[in-house]
Amino acid sequence: MSQKHAPGESLASRRGGITSPLHERIEGVEMSIHPGDSMFRTALATQCGYRPAAVFDYFRSGLEAYDMTSQLLDWRFGTEWRGLGRLLDFGSGYGRLTRLLLQPLPADRLWCADVDPAAVEFQREQLGVQGIVTPVDPDDVPPVRDRFDAILSYSVLTHLPEPTFTGWLRRWLEALAEDGMLVFSVLDQSTLPPGAPRPREGFSFERWSESGVLSLDDYGSTRVTPEYVERVLSRVTPGEVRFHRFPRALWHLQDVYVVIRGAEPDPGELQLERGPAGCLETCELDASRRRLRLTGWAADPDGWHEPPEVVVEIDGERMGQCRPRGDWPGVARLLGAPGGALDAAWSVDYESADEIQPGAELRLEAISTVTGRRYAIASGTVDATLLLLPLVETSRRAEELQKQVTMFEASRFGRWRRRWMSLKQVLGRER
Ligand SMILES: C[S@@+](CC[C@H](N)C(=O)[O-])C[C@H]1O[C@@H](n2cnc3c(N)ncnc32)[C@H](O)[C@@H]1O
Repeated sequence: MSQKHAPGESLASRRGGITSPLHERIEGVEMSIHPGDSMFRTALATQCGYRPAAVFDYFRSGLEAYDMTSQLLDWRFGTEWRGLGRLLDFGSGYGRLTRLLLQPLPADRLWCADVDPAAVEFQREQLGVQGIVTPVDPDDVPPVRDRFDAILSYSVLTHLPEPTFTGWLRRWLEALAEDGMLVFSVLDQSTLPPGAPRPREGFSFERWSESGVLSLDDYGSTRVTPEYVERVLSRVTPGEVRFHRFPRALWHLQDVYVVIRGAEPDPGELQLERGPAGCLETCELDASRRRLRLTGWAADPDGWHEPPEVVVEIDGERMGQCRPRGDWPGVARLLGAPGGALDAAWSVDYESADEIQPGAELRLEAISTVTGRRYAIASGTVDATLLLLPLVETSRRAEELQKQVTMFEASRFGRWRRRWMSLKQVLGRER
């Protein structure tokens, strides 16, 4: 079980800021990960099966979701979330976020819901929270008797086809208390790769997902436009609501919508901090094992033109720091930055008096110039990093290529070409 803290002693207050590096932040958090956790399996696939790097990604992304959520809960319910009675994490998976919410909140105020019974069971047992197994179809849920003060649903509508996308939004709003707050995330059409067809009528659903459990008819990849979300919200809302869209506020990728019942307060007044995004792309160590060169990118959506400071540590000692300068191709588009380029590229060279040991612990942080807060970018031993980065890059390129082939095959030209090729084969046989 996770270590409990006194109510009122929230993670937010103990940390004395929005973010500090990951290792300090997850002290006391439940660390066990279920083998069926698709969020962890995705991280593991991205890290070519290397578990320590996947664990780092899993907790880093959980903390990013937590930091965004805690700013919203602070705003709506006051610091320490005093006004918060019942919180529901809908589509919680195996508790990537729930386990962090358990630090400030007692388990009896925290509910998780998921269509996967194993995910709900895991959280009931390991985290001690309340659990609800939900059906695929929102129309199969009986009316809720006890409403929730806060309903969070991250990376769920990003997967649903139109009827359940609309249906679950309706059910969440019905289940929300009078002074409640609904927070959900979606993927905007701007996150589609260049050349991919844009959503028709503001909504697109592709039969592709990371889940090994759910049918592709019920759970795929969904993109929407802000106009579409606005139309749906106005259709499904019982009475007056106010809502605001925070572009790319979750993981620098998903748009976050905050919905409040009634006219006040206005979520648009909130300045949500996103924190810097960054990546370690290459790591080279010369034959003497004394000269290390690291390169990557970092940028801060809280101030696009104020690049964060990148700091590198080995075995807890600061070995270098720098400020990004110059463009890193693709980063501006990846992060949805205005304009075509950003000062995002960084490199750090380090010369050590002694050989750098294979097991030396390498850690990277980005320090926001806007807020002064520290954010973890990468962590791992030197030799694991040396081996892993080229592998990850190769598999990323292979995956991109595979996606392009799939898109081409699904296109009208691709279908026409396939037909032409099989016709040519037939004609060749007849000759
Ligand atoms: C991409 S995962 C996100 C998990 C979690 N919110 C997180 O960010 O770690 C989406 C989750 O939504 C769940 N889900 C899909 N359809 C659902 C439904 N009808 N009711 C509840 N959960 C659902 C899936 O089982 C999965 O756990």
